[in-house]
Amino acid sequence: MPLRVKVCTVAEIRDGELVGFAVPGVTWPVMVTRLDDEILATSSVCPHEDVSLLGGLYESGVVTCPGHAYELDLRTGRCLHDARLQLRRYKVTLVGDDVWIDLL
Ligand code: FES
Repeated sequence: MPLRVKVCTVAEIRDGELVGFAVPGVTWPVMVTRLDDEILATSSVCPHEDVSLLGGLYESGVVTCPGHAYELDLRTGRCLHDARLQLRRYKVTLVGDDVWIDLL
């Protein structure tokens, strides 16, 4: 049974923008966006070092970290510069207009 928490509503998500939402029990805000009608939710902390990705350049599903400019694909969580680095992704479930993620 997954540990599922509500993150936001669909109306709070912006196409082409990364929005951070505080979630109880999660240290860094959960980062949410919509890409090609799919809602993507990931951690907002860079897997390289503890830098927030919310201030990074974002385009077409790829965020560029403001720390050292590594690019991270939000669809896969993969770092395009270092295959060992993986951005945490969350499984998203829509319940009406509410966006929920599985923490575990
Ligand atoms: S802290 Fe993000 S690339 Fe180094």
